[in-house]
Amino acid sequence: MCGIVGYVGSQQAAPLLLEGLTRLEHRGYDSAGIGVLSGSGLKVAKRAGRVRDLAAALPARFAGRVGIGHTRWATHGPPTDANAHPQVDAAGRVAVVHNGIIDNAAALRRRLSDEGVQLASDTDTEVIAHLVARSVAATLEERVAAALALVEGTYGLAIVHADFPDRIVVARNGSPLLIGVGDKEMYVASDLAALVRYTTTVAHLQDGEMATVTAAGFTTYRQDLTATVTPAEELDIDPGAYDVGEHASFMHKEMLEQPDSAEHVLRGRLDDRFGTAHLGGLGLDARETREVRRVKVLGCGSAYYVGEMGASLIEELARVPADAEAASEFRYRNPVIDPDTLYVAVSQSGETADTLLAVQEIRRKGGRVVGLVNVVGSAIARECDGGIYLHAGPEVAVASTKALTNMFLGFALLALQLGRVRDLSIADGHRLIAGLRALPAQIGEVLKREEELRPLAERLAAAESLFFVGRVRGYPVAREGAQKFKEISYRHAEAYPTSELKHGPLALVSPAVPTVAIVPDDELVERNVGALHEIAARGGPLVVVTHAGVDLGEVAERPDVHRIDVPASERELDPILLTIPLQLLAYQAAVHLGHDVDKPRNLAKSVTVE
Ligand code: AGP
Repeated sequence: MCGIVGYVGSQQAAPLLLEGLTRLEHRGYDSAGIGVLSGSGLKVAKRAGRVRDLAAALPARFAGRVGIGHTRWATHGPPTDANAHPQVDAAGRVAVVHNGIIDNAAALRRRLSDEGVQLASDTDTEVIAHLVARSVAATLEERVAAALALVEGTYGLAIVHADFPDRIVVARNGSPLLIGVGDKEMYVASDLAALVRYTTTVAHLQDGEMATVTAAGFTTYRQDLTATVTPAEELDIDPGAYDVGEHASFMHKEMLEQPDSAEHVLRGRLDDRFGTAHLGGLGLDARETREVRRVKVLGCGSAYYVGEMGASLIEELARVPADAEAASEFRYRNPVIDPDTLYVAVSQSGETADTLLAVQEIRRKGGRVVGLVNVVGSAIARECDGGIYLHAGPEVAVASTKALTNMFLGFALLALQLGRVRDLSIADGHRLIAGLRALPAQIGEVLKREEELRPLAERLAAAESLFFVGRVRGYPVAREGAQKFKEISYRHAEAYPTSELKHGPLALVSPAVPTVAIVPDDELVERNVGALHEIAARGGPLVVVTHAGVDLGEVAERPDVHRIDVPASERELDPILLTIPLQLLAYQAAVHLGHDVDKPRNLAKSVTVE
């Protein structure tokens, strides 16, 4: 969603801000803008559309060594030039970029209007520019603090003022803000991706904190202006991980990184001696682990579907009742929070507002919640009582692939740890550890079949509508497969439990509606193959994701039936290998249709609003 960048130093700010905004494009946006300060005051350029459109339209003279920039994903008001950020005050001396939502914007807009202020946009953000401009306090810090005292809501903010041309004042409340430390120059961003080309020395602002950023350094303080200590740390990250390299897209790169990233999440966490997993970050000792009576997983979109895979893995290995729920729904049904339940929040970005709010609701009611999160130090990671970092490395493409795989592996580790303090035998522990160790190479084997799957993906892309079906362990795989396909191909893809077909969806099966069926070699294989016959009998084309050795019967002879065999793993771990070909099919279909796979329409990488 929205992204913030800022620069103060000896270089021209505009090119650096535009470069930073380009690095934030993957978050999803519909307008962009920058504002720079120079001796002659504040200059702002902003417009609906892409960062490249903004760059092309930038006036030749746009000099200034202090500046802020923004990519906006419309919430209050449509994506227009006027609604793009920076938002400015009436005199054009204060510029504000903002991520988040001001809840009392309507009341503040009314109040400003009554006081004679002409509002130039539909945004909630504009009120902040006016409030700062109207403050008569001596310093910019005091003016911003006075404005924020009137504001309710969430924000990551960067503000410049022509009367204070050496600084950017930033503030955080519920929306990430980072300060990057350079050599006599400083950066501001809402996401590491915008900074890493320039510096890996970074300070994370905390909620309720503000900072003043000048070329010489930064100071942090609370909104009552009392000083805080927020040191910058050298982060152990490879800036190259944020580059697309020789790949056609980030999604392609990230899919192919899966064998390596899967190794990373397992590294140091498998215990051969006791056939278990070590997850120190959970903060649960053996007794507390045993006392868990139920597990509830919360996540959104793909994180929710992999949460369903994880819940069934936990129930199977630990024999603890476990289920997954969409975090976006959880909070709204006044959930009963049970002290003996372990709540697990799962999120790649660690910023998803719905998941964060669910975590806050659980903790407010005294529940214990742990996170499965990829982005270190993100809001969800910090809000949880403990957790498992996914170590997938930065994921830029909107469609989650490598983070999702590591979520599954994180759940497998958690299930192993929960199982081994209960009735899961050491022999089963060893069996699963061997299975987990084999997975990275097996994922690599499936990925090698990319070219072979291309013609099949192109055939699926020709259909307007598809079904994805699976049973028990295979059903969340089908849900995730349909999600990935619809996200980037824009085809209607709907998931059903295979067992539900004859209760309704079979009515739609026809030669024009292909079905992707998940048929692992498990205890349900015969029933699954039976369902394939029902689909084939109605002329429905089939793609069957299965294991070598599964006999599909005479269905296999049909020209419109294709099978994709994935390597055999331990049965409980099947879901992840069954998921990989579905990523490839979605990717190839989207490429064939000419879509921008990294930035699918209407979607954002981090959904930071409810
Ligand atoms: C995944 O391909 C999707 N882009 C989306 O469903 C995503 O998984 C969801 O928005 C949750 O994001 P998170 O993992 O960052 O919380």
